[in-house]
Amino acid sequence: MCGIVGYIGSEGAAPILVEGLKSLEYRGYDSAGIALAPGGGEFRITRASGKLRNLQNRVDMNDPATTGIGHTRWATHGRPTEENAHPHRSADGQVVAVHNGIFENFLELRAELKGAGHTFVTETDTECFPVMVSQIMRTEPDFKEAFRLAVGRMHGIYAIGCLLATDPGRILVGRSGPPLVIGLGDGENFIASDVVPLLRHTRRVIYLEDGDLAEITRDAVTIFRQDGSPVERPVFVVPFDPVAAEKGGFKHFMQKEIFEQPLAVSNTLLDRLPLDGGGVPLGLAFTDEELRSFQRITILACGTSRHAGLVGQFYLEQLARIGVEVDYGSEYRYRDPVVMADTLAIGITQSGETADTLAAMKEAAARGARGMAICNVQGSTAARLAEATLLTHAGPEIGVASTKAFTTQLVVLLLLALRLGEARGTLDPAVRAEIIQALRELPALLERVASTERKIHQWAQKWHEATDFLYLGRGPLYPIALEGALKLKELSYIHAEGYPAGEMKHGPIALIDRHLPIVAVMPRDAHREKVLSNLQEAAARDGRILALVEEGDTGLDHIAEDVLHLPKVNPWLAPILYVVPLQLLSYHIAVIRGCDVDQPRNLAKSVTVE
Ligand code: F6R
Repeated sequence: MCGIVGYIGSEGAAPILVEGLKSLEYRGYDSAGIALAPGGGEFRITRASGKLRNLQNRVDMNDPATTGIGHTRWATHGRPTEENAHPHRSADGQVVAVHNGIFENFLELRAELKGAGHTFVTETDTECFPVMVSQIMRTEPDFKEAFRLAVGRMHGIYAIGCLLATDPGRILVGRSGPPLVIGLGDGENFIASDVVPLLRHTRRVIYLEDGDLAEITRDAVTIFRQDGSPVERPVFVVPFDPVAAEKGGFKHFMQKEIFEQPLAVSNTLLDRLPLDGGGVPLGLAFTDEELRSFQRITILACGTSRHAGLVGQFYLEQLARIGVEVDYGSEYRYRDPVVMADTLAIGITQSGETADTLAAMKEAAARGARGMAICNVQGSTAARLAEATLLTHAGPEIGVASTKAFTTQLVVLLLLALRLGEARGTLDPAVRAEIIQALRELPALLERVASTERKIHQWAQKWHEATDFLYLGRGPLYPIALEGALKLKELSYIHAEGYPAGEMKHGPIALIDRHLPIVAVMPRDAHREKVLSNLQEAAARDGRILALVEEGDTGLDHIAEDVLHLPKVNPWLAPILYVVPLQLLSYHIAVIRGCDVDQPRNLAKSVTVE
């Protein structure tokens, strides 16, 4: 949801900023811009609506300026036009800013600043920030102090980068809500909304905390709080391999990320499977006694991460015998939730920055819950908010539609259920041993499933013109039906619904006719017979069935139009395996329909506004 970059050093800033924005384009892609500060009291600002390539075509990559900031936008206030694209500047042209977030009091500030004689040229909330800095500088000539005072006037959430035309030797930044990372180089420094654009230049980073401001020069980074007091933040060394953020021969990031799942799952399992006689080594910040004391688990998440939570509900209830509720991050805090003593609230979020999930986690903590985060980004807000964090080691996920983050979330949830089950004494040793063995074999099984791509591609060629899809599953495969439908909707803009197969007869059955493809996920588990009879009901009404079943399962051969056989898998792991062909199906349908797979319309990778 909007991406910010900045550079200060001795190289030409333009190509560094444009490359950086390319890596952040998944966060927002309806307009973009950069401001270069060559000194001498001027800026060179280039902006363009639409995709980043429009900006790239306009920027002079040989511009000698060595300081600059840039922005890629997902519109909140104001249409996605060039005029509304960032950076924005004050009417006197002396201050420019890029901003991710929302200034909630911008109308009030605009009125005040207009009263003081300033003019505005855009509809955006952001423009009031450089204008405010410029206004304060009428009486407070120190840029850093004026920036600090201006930040103090803003209500809402923000990550801001700001430059002064007469002083190109520093970038000022501030963060409250959306993430901002500082990359530390040698005689050069960088800013970005996440680590991905920094990886090309450095792995040493500082994550700003909420309420931090910083002054960044070529050689130094000075962090201070809103009251002006200095503060130190640790330097992290990012483990991501820079190559992980490139397409590596695949046509799209999403395709690459689907195929990376065996590796992502292996990395997530690394050092977390028990050695002989030991427990599951999760390195949790909770003692066994605390794990035993939890009476209830509340899972808070959005979108695909919430679907992972719904599968986790099965894992945690059945293996650790603890009651679990799963709520939408965006709903939880508005329902005045009842938080019982000894509740564990688990926020699941790939980015660790989803505003709704973070707000729900804070709400649960304020009501007395202990907090845990399952996320993919070390140092993210969710990780810093929670008492305990379990990282998925999926590597950077660039495709806007989540794939490898989802499967690794499922792996972590299963490990957590095992760990809780061990501490609480609820685990059948035989079941535990089978699951652990199956987890060891999972990466190899995922490789085999990825090789079904050819067949799935044929399905996509056959079915891509359908206008509606129904996805059915039962038990822990019901959330997989939801996830399959979500993937199809967001990538190919085809209407799709996921339903528990047994619920179909209570309404959706009315939709079934010979035009409706029904995608059924039916591994050989405890629910198989029930799903089979639900599908017979669908077939009797001319529904056209595409089924994912286990190798050797011929139960659907006489009623399904297309059947894909998947390797035999321990039922606990079936959700992790069966989601992969659904990801591939959405991917190929979207490609055939000419959709922008990595950057579907209207979406943003991390949704940092409510
Ligand atoms: C769908 C998708 C979204 C995210 C959701 C939460 O493919 O990616 O539904 O799952 O926006 O994002 P995170 O997990 O970063 O909190």
